[in-house]
Amino acid sequence: VGSEDAHVVSATGAAAQAGQYWDSGRDDRLICRAIIDENGPAKTISFSPATLCRFAFEPGQYLVFTFETEDGPIERCYSISSSAANEHCISITVKLVPGGRASTWLAAHLRVGDVVHAHGPLGNFSAGRSPAKMLLFLSAGSGITPIASMMRTFADFCADVDVTSIHWSRTPDSTIFAEEMPLWARRVPSARLFLSTTSSETPAKGCEFFGRISAQQIEATVPDIAQRTVYCCGPAGFMADARRLVLGLGLPSSAYHEESFDFAIEKSDPAAQAPAEFGATTHAGFAVHFSKSGRTIQCPQDTTLLRAASAERLPIPSSCRKGVCGTCRTRLVSGTVEMKNGGGLRQRDIDQGWILPCCSKPTSPVVLDR
Ligand SMILES: Cc1cc2nc3c(=O)[nH]c(=O)nc-3n(C[C@H](O)[C@H](O)[C@H](O)COP(=O)(O)OP(=O)(O)OC[C@H]3O[C@@H](n4cnc5c(N)ncnc54)[C@H](O)[C@@H]3O)c2cc1C
Ligand code: FES
Repeated sequence: VGSEDAHVVSATGAAAQAGQYWDSGRDDRLICRAIIDENGPAKTISFSPATLCRFAFEPGQYLVFTFETEDGPIERCYSISSSAANEHCISITVKLVPGGRASTWLAAHLRVGDVVHAHGPLGNFSAGRSPAKMLLFLSAGSGITPIASMMRTFADFCADVDVTSIHWSRTPDSTIFAEEMPLWARRVPSARLFLSTTSSETPAKGCEFFGRISAQQIEATVPDIAQRTVYCCGPAGFMADARRLVLGLGLPSSAYHEESFDFAIEKSDPAAQAPAEFGATTHAGFAVHFSKSGRTIQCPQDTTLLRAASAERLPIPSSCRKGVCGTCRTRLVSGTVEMKNGGGLRQRDIDQGWILPCCSKPTSPVVLDR
């Protein structure tokens, strides 16, 4: 997007701080206004704030929801799939995951009029922030949701942007937004849309390609790939292939942005979990005091506060363990940390003293409000 468009599509900050916009720090309640079945199977769920105010977000950002279920609260991130031009309602599109706690609970229990709790908007995965004029969106499966928000926003703001979007799904029947996608592309003058199905051996009806992501597909659609800025979202394996291919075709790594929906990979990394290994560390580190429980532990300088706490059986709720979901957010009462925020905290949360223990290492003795 050009700099003026970037300004329009991210028209958030000042007005939001003036209090006209939804501020999850003040009132995190959202009322469910509509539930629509999508292909996939998936559902689009629309919400408005419980108090009279409007939404401000950058297309591509997400919210962290808490659903109060019979088995206790469940926290999950969902990208906003609606246009940032609609300030009155936001939508998320949730793919039903067999056996998945949140997605099956939402499909079975959430009704129009119900209240849920959420915080955000969060995340840096947004072309609204980028001055780039030439974009390439790569998405697969439910990874279309942040791309949908960006495409719908471009269409609503008549953005002057050269965007090519390539989307992969298993079959045409499982393509979320299959009917709507060509309309976004028609409403953005220089947009081009390409679809590929991975389970067929010839292009399915309405699709240009078949098979998994390949260098041939990308070269055929965007021979100018090296000049573009790429936003990629989908399953972990798809994103790994996409990254390798586009960098191999000459895209600078600074022009590649991705959003992962999948924390399973991080969690299966023993180094990311492993309280037991942590105990073997040799660095002395700093004292970490938990003001509510009254306990004090030692945290080595090269270890995150979350790992140090779990090693000492001091539970801090967590999900992604990489600074994205905001689940572990904790107030820093005193001391200093080095934090690698992955988008799970906004600048104003940081200014108010919040940190993410999963991606924070102590640089002095610290006191946490836990
Ligand atoms: C930034 C971000 C944005 C996201 N945006 C979207 C979005 O727009 N749309 C969307 O659909 N999703 C999105 N997600 C993913 C979403 O947060 C959830 O992870 C997803 O809905 C699955 O949650 P769930 O509770 O239904 O499944 P989970 O309960 O978390 O289960 C996930 C998988 O693990 C398996 N599983 C669960 N428990 C067990 C067990 N005990 N043993 C073995 N296997 C098990 C399940 O069968 C399932 O396959 C996003 C994630 C992130 C981080
Ligand atoms: S666990 Fe997700 S931000 Fe810390």
